[in-house]
Order: sequence, then C-alpha cells, then structure tokens
Amino acid sequence: MKHYLSVNDIESLPQWVDEAIKLKKDPYQFEDLGKHKTICLLFFNNSLRTRLSTQKAAMYLGMEVMVMNFGNEGWALEYGDGTVMDQGTSEHIKEAAQVVSQYCDIVAIRAFAGLQDKAKDESEEVINGFAKYASIPVVNMESSVGHPLQALADAITLEENKLDKKPKVVLSWAPHPKALPHAVANSFVEMMKLQDAEFVITHPEGYELNPAITEGCTIEHDQDKALEDADFVYVKNWSNYTYYGQVLNKDTNWTMTEKKLGKAKFMHCLPVRRNMVVEDAVLDGNQSLVVEQSKNRIFSAQIVLKKILENLK
Ligand code: CP
Repeated sequence: MKHYLSVNDIESLPQWVDEAIKLKKDPYQFEDLGKHKTICLLFFNNSLRTRLSTQKAAMYLGMEVMVMNFGNEGWALEYGDGTVMDQGTSEHIKEAAQVVSQYCDIVAIRAFAGLQDKAKDESEEVINGFAKYASIPVVNMESSVGHPLQALADAITLEENKLDKKPKVVLSWAPHPKALPHAVANSFVEMMKLQDAEFVITHPEGYELNPAITEGCTIEHDQDKALEDADFVYVKNWSNYTYYGQVLNKDTNWTMTEKKLGKAKFMHCLPVRRNMVVEDAVLDGNQSLVVEQSKNRIFSAQIVLKKILENLK
C-alpha cells in the first residue's frame, strides 16, 4: 500500500484489526521502524482526536512529526489546471505537494467537504491533488467524502466489544443544528460492508447517503424497527445529500435516548452535541463506547503508518 485514502485501501480488515489490537498491547514494539522518518500533518479544518491520535501513533513508531494548520496559516491553494491565478489563490497544488514531499516522508491531510458543490466535493481536489503531485505517501485524516482512519478505529472497537454471535449493527441518523459532511457515515458504511454482521442504516426519508456507497445495504426509515435487537448503535448526523449540504430536518424524535438504545452499545466518532444528537444518559452510561473509539484512533493510525513505513523500506 502506498496511500491510505479510503477504506478500500485496507488490504485485509480482519488482519489489520488483529494487528492493531496487538499494537495496542505493546505500542512501542516497532519504535525503530520510523526512526529518521518524518510525517507532516496538514489541517485545512479543526480537529482534536485526529490531530493528537495521529501524532501519538507516529511517536509510538519513532517518527518525527510536523503539524501545520494549513487552512489558517498556509497560502490559499489553486487546484485548477491552466487557471490564470489573478484571484484569491496564491500557490498551486502542483508546487505545494512537491515542496511538502521534500520535507517529510509521509503527508497526512484533513480537508472537509465545503457542502456547497457536490461535484467539487466528490472530486476530492485536496487529497487527490496531493496524491497526484506529491512523491510521498498520502494519508486521509478526513476528506470530503471519507474518514477511513475513523472507520478503522470503529472496526477495532467493534471487534473488541462483540459477543460470540454475529452482531447487529445499526447506523442511525440524528439531528444537528449545522450542516455536517457525509464522510464519517460513508466510511462507516464501507467498513461495515467488509464485516460479517447484520447491518441496517436508519434515517428520515429523503436523507439517503450516496446510493453508490450504500448499494446493497438494508435501509429502514422506521428508527424503532431498525433498532430492534441491535448490539451496536452508531449515531451520526449528516446533511442532506440530494439537496446537497442543506439541513432540512432537525427532528429531535431521532435523538438517541437510553430507552431507544436498549441493551445495545452506543458509538459515535465525536465531537458530539449532547441532548441534540444523543442524550446525556447515554453518553454518561456504561454502554457508551465513544471514549474507547477515540483511544482506538491511535491504533488505527499506527497500523496504517506501520504498513506505509514497511513499504518505504
Ligand atoms: N472523530 C474525529 O475525527 O475527531 P476530530 O474531528 O476531533 O479529529
């Protein structure tokens, strides 16, 4: 594997999850692998977990880490071919990606969807631009349409918490006051397609995710019915996909409650808005896995960086 851009770059999900769980038990076991190697983390958007967990993962592997808040501090980048750059952009992705490639051995990038222009977001101009013009491996720390490090952490969390039987996992939409991207839900769906599980997606009618991603999945618009006998409930808001980026529904009947959750374990990628997406009692109760999920972000990043470093040697 050269780049880690999507869940589809995982060569074997069960094997990677198994390796990540072994890394978690002894995280310094490959501390020489990244010696004299540098990772550069470029953030076009805010972060808590992704920033710190990816740094920690790199440190466990003995790497040097450079972090830049590109969105606030870098030059505004141009992505178009042949553009006359007489407007707001100052530097082309062609030069920026090549320059960054000389300062580090791996570059990891966070660049969210703008949610204004579906075609532009789906072209993934930032992460694909870096993958095209950089001469080093590129890692996706959440792009317009995917958050594969989160999905891998979620797979680790499911594995660590699953019972003996094939689990029922429900992805449930929840209300949110702001327009949020589809990336986390998309990658979770892609990851669940690789799992031996009963998987159900529930959301209000009209809130379908990209059908190319959910193809083959069970979709149930009755949330109560979807949640029946669930073992894991993964809650996430996303803005409307058809009326792209709009917030057409804030129905708090979809908020996850202790009663709806029943005996299931609760999952969310964080950050989460309390008593909007999920009520306090769920997050504060012992069925919540959200803090475990955030810990597993270290080991999802570590297994990805380990695979890339092994390929660099
Ligand atoms: N889950 C996640 O990606 O968290 P951050 O946005 O804080 O990095």
